[in-house]
Amino acid sequence: MTIQITELHSGSKAELYEALAAQLSSLLAGEHDLIANAANFSSLIFHSLPDLNWAGFYFAKDGELVLGPFQGQPACVRIKIGQGVCGAGAAKCETMIVPNVHEFPGYITCDSASNSEIVVPLAKGERLIGVLDLDSPLLSRFDEEDAAGLERLVRILLASTITNDA
Ligand code: SME
Repeated sequence: MTIQITELHSGSKAELYEALAAQLSSLLAGEHDLIANAANFSSLIFHSLPDLNWAGFYFAKDGELVLGPFQGQPACVRIKIGQGVCGAGAAKCETMIVPNVHEFPGYITCDSASNSEIVVPLAKGERLIGVLDLDSPLLSRFDEEDAAGLERLVRILLASTITNDA
């Protein structure tokens, strides 16, 4: 079976996220496995959103974040809640937009190409499941439209997925 990712590079950012939401819904349809869906999610956005050098997940396990499915260079495996951009997003359970990672206190370098970053928490009610993390070689790559678009995509992932074991 070949899964085709449609070229989504034209149009406004809002249109791009609209199209991505539709593609993600059909990509995840009928599958409930968190790892499988997170893997296809990271591939879809890595190949569809411009100017990314890393896109993937960390999952909350035993009080820390553990590396999940991703696209990009190999990354650090464990991040303490509260540390780095991922840990800060997890601790606050809110989306973090970092225009310049080199100015972020406690930033954890995984890929020296990264200059800006966005982290979106995955939560079901009060329960933190993990975070989505995107890195870009561009400064100020991510804005509020990306935050809203990615939060929508994360809701689609969480709605599709059984997360009891994550
Ligand atoms: N920079 C992140 C670490 C994860 S990598 O970017 C993939 C952080 O500061 O939490």
